[in-house]
Amino acid sequence: NTLLLLNGPNLGILGRREPEIYGTDTLADIEKAVAAEVSDAGWEVLSLQHDSEGDLVRDIHRHHSDTVGAIVNPGALMIAGWSLRDALAAYPRPWIEVHLSNVWARERFRHESVIAPLASGVVAGLGPMGYRLAAAALLELAGGER
Ligand code: DQA
Repeated sequence: NTLLLLNGPNLGILGRREPEIYGTDTLADIEKAVAAEVSDAGWEVLSLQHDSEGDLVRDIHRHHSDTVGAIVNPGALMIAGWSLRDALAAYPRPWIEVHLSNVWARERFRHESVIAPLASGVVAGLGPMGYRLAAAALLELAGGER
């Protein structure tokens, strides 16, 4: 089983991106932590990051049938990423939205996510731990289905 770990714009520079908000873990660190979380269950992680919405949409299409679930940090596409939203609407497996920061404790423009209504759940404000928690949840949500 393969878990899709999808990160949107500006998340490839984690580690040096506003570390006071996003911490110092790199995306590679997060990938390792997620992989460790699911390895006992025999799952693998396919980690993809793109700065542009179209690339994210294409990857969701491409992996709709060879992944068992997904963790999605849409970055700022949470605000108006309508084509990302539609791609996820057609993704047939459970997926969880993750934000490193507590978006509701920040600027108003981050308070609504266009993808959140479609997610199995949302984790925000727990830093890299949020990705691990999402992975643990997907083991339960997607684990029995296949
Ligand atoms: C983020 C929160 C978004 O509002 C922001 O645009 C990001 C990162 C987070 O992980 O906290 O790029 O998704």
